[in-house]
Parts: sequence; structure tokens; C-alpha cells
Amino acid sequence: MKTVTINNVSRYLEENVKINGWVYNTRRSGKIGFLILRDGFGLLQCILEKSHLGEENFNKFKDLTQESSLSIKGKVVKNERAIGGFELFVDEFEVYQVSTDYPITPKEHGPDYLMNNRHLWLRSKRQNAILKIRHQIIKSIRDFFDMNDFTLVDTPIFTPNSAEGTSTLFDTDYFDTKAYLCQTGQLYGEASAMAFGRHYNFGPCFRAEKSKTRRHLTEFWMVEPEIAFCDMKENIKWAEKLIDYIFQEVIKNKRNELKILERDIHVLENIKAPFPKISYTECINLLNKGGFDIKWGDDFGSPEETFISEKYDKPVVVFGFPSKIKAFYMKRDPENEKVVLGMDILAPEGYGEIVGGSERETDINVLLDRIKEENLNQKDYEWYLDLRRFGSVPHSGFGMGIERVVAWVCGISHIRETIPFARTMTRLNP
Ligand code: 4AD
Ligand code: MG
Repeated sequence: MKTVTINNVSRYLEENVKINGWVYNTRRSGKIGFLILRDGFGLLQCILEKSHLGEENFNKFKDLTQESSLSIKGKVVKNERAIGGFELFVDEFEVYQVSTDYPITPKEHGPDYLMNNRHLWLRSKRQNAILKIRHQIIKSIRDFFDMNDFTLVDTPIFTPNSAEGTSTLFDTDYFDTKAYLCQTGQLYGEASAMAFGRHYNFGPCFRAEKSKTRRHLTEFWMVEPEIAFCDMKENIKWAEKLIDYIFQEVIKNKRNELKILERDIHVLENIKAPFPKISYTECINLLNKGGFDIKWGDDFGSPEETFISEKYDKPVVVFGFPSKIKAFYMKRDPENEKVVLGMDILAPEGYGEIVGGSERETDINVLLDRIKEENLNQKDYEWYLDLRRFGSVPHSGFGMGIERVVAWVCGISHIRETIPFARTMTRLNP
């Protein structure tokens, strides 16, 4: 007999199969038992008839509790009203373990309780749907870059220097010196872009950000393309095309999961490039009109980003940020030294910044000045400066935070549900 998974049962109509899984739910109506089986691939209703199974086996079924593990053999039959349109008419089953007092019941639990039980919460229907959409988003991103001849080059996690400001570095003992966990792979991505033309890296990044917002993790995943001979305009186009592709693929392949999350597909279908563009200076004006006490030169926080992004039903590209508030490697605008050729993309519905990028400074003297201004140790950046000494070219890139994109696509309010095991200021467990 064939062992199959629930996502494939439609191929075995009227055939006898074996399915391994866990009890999601049970209920009885007289001499008929209903068992919803969960196998990680889907949910399937199983029908257990006392007259067919015999008294002893039917009693064994009565003892099954939520999350008990078992193998079931039976015939696949059609039932329009069952989840997925099919059910299993059970001949026999074998129990691996009866699970007692499973801590997550169908009743409402608070977020802290659920996060403490994250190792079990992952089994629930909603969390399953969110992480399957995360998987789809990651796959689409990889496919997009692979199709466009980018080379995936992995960047290190232990690093000797900072790229996104020294205030959010995690340090760790590294034999007789200190190492920092990477905040970004970008500087290495720039080296790779000079070697491969089109580069991307995709991995975890770490920031000791003391922000307890619904958008900040201390460990998050970022994808970062870096492109040689590319200016800011082309850089924005790559980001727009990437976002377009992600939405197209998620809508095509993850309808079921979006339905479980009650996400309105029409809202997602509307996300098509080109996206509106607005300068930082225009944003400051809008914010002032909206009652924000912010002046030119200040950085945006989450409330400011939310205010701007809520004005659009598509992502909005913000450009022309003051150089003072942006990283040392961003190229100054030749037409206005006070601002950089950098961009942030803010997602609609108040999701805030999902992408940050820029054209990179190519003038080694400007870089040296910026490194000094930021009190960075030039010695640690000599290898990076070599990229400006040997065949320097205009180049650009950006970073996209995966968890923020997942939160937006899924329409969920807190980033902690978008990563399997969230790390925040107050959480390192499980
Ligand atoms: O804007 P950021 O800091 O840009 C960089 O790190 C550049 N080096 C990227 C590049 O040009 N290659 O971060 C990029 C994105 C943000 O837009 C956001 O989506 C995400 O990374 N991000 C976070 N996501 C979750 N939690 C945090 N604490 C995050 N910090 C940044
Ligand atoms: Mg940023």
C-alpha cells in the first residue's frame, strides 16, 4: 500500500492508502467518528465507523487526543463538503503516541503564552500558512535573481567591522579579539559585484536594536543584491521588479494559505510597479502638515513611516535623504551634497520600510572622510577601500527584510509570527 501525503490525496481517488500524521481534532456522532488528520502538508477528514472498525478499535479512537501521532490506512473518497474536497474512509490505524494535555487548545491564548510555546504553535493552521508563504517568498526571491543571472555569494556572519552604525552591533569574543555579528552582508556584496557583475546574498542579520516595536527583530533575514555599472534609477527598477515577481508568485501558488489568513487577494493584486516616488523633503512637509514635530535632517521612526505609507495603496519609494542620517557608504548626490542617492521603500497599509538601498560612494577620499566622521577604524576598512582602488565603477544595491515582507503579504500585525523562532529584545527562547 502506498504511503501518501494529504496534499496529494486527489491522485488516489477510490484507492487504499496510508497516511502518517497527528490528530488535529476529533468528534463523534453516535457510531461514527470524525478525525481531522494533520500531516504538515494539509488537513484531511477521516471517517471511522464503529461497524467497520469493530468495538475495540472504535474505543481506541475515542481515546485519541489532540496531537496524538498515528498512521491511518483507508480509502480516499470524494466529499465536496469536507476540507480539500476529499476524505479518508478508515480501515485501520496504528497509534505512535497518545499526547496528553497538549498546551495549545482551540481556545484563545495570549501572544506571550503562544510565543513561549512557539515550538508547538508552529503546528497550528495559521502559523503553518504564514511559514509556507514565507517559504514561497524566499523561493520567489531566489528564482528572480537566478533567472536574471545574479550569482549567490554567501557573506560572513562574523565580521571585524560595522556597516550600519556602531550602536546596534552585537559583539562576541573571538579568541583574543572581538568579532561582530553581521548587520548586513553589503560590504562583502560590493566585493562580489566587482567579481561577478550581479551579486546577491541571503542570510541572517543581527542588530542590537533596543526597539520593542512590531517591526523589529534582533535576528532577521535579509536579501541583498549588489550590481556593478548600476545607478540609482536602475537600482529602484530592480527592486520594483523583484516586488512585482514576489506578489505574482505568492498569488499564483499560495491562494489556500492566503485564504486561511483571510487576506484579501484584490489588495495584493494591486501591487504592480511602477511605484510612486516621493522625496524626503516632500515627506517632511507632509509630516509637518499632519501635525508631526519633525524638521529637515531628522530620521523617520515607525510612526512617521506609517503616516507616509498609509497615504498610498502601493509601496512608495522615498529618496533624497540627508547624508547625516544615512550610512557612510552612500553616494552623495552630485547636485546636492547634503543628500545621498539612497532610497527606502515603504510598504502600504502602515507596514513601513521593507527595502533600504543606495548607489555607493566611489570617491575614496569622500569615503575616508565619512569613515573618520563616523569614528570608524580605517584599518578595518582597508579591504573595502581596495574596491575603490582597483577598477572602481558606479554600483548600487539594496537590502530587503524578509520578515517585514512576509508580515505585509500575510496582512499580520506583528513581525514575531513571520519567522520560525523570533529573537527580540525580550525573547531568546524557545
Ligand atoms: O535599511 P537597512 O539597514 O539597509 C542595509 O542594511 C543595507 N546595507 C542594505 C543594502 O543596501 N544592501 O536594512 C535593510 C532592510 C530594511 O529595509 C528592513 O526591511 C530590514 O532590512 N530590517 C529589519 N527587519 C527586521 N528587524 C530589524 N531590526 C531590521 N532592520 C532592518
Ligand atoms: Mg533602512
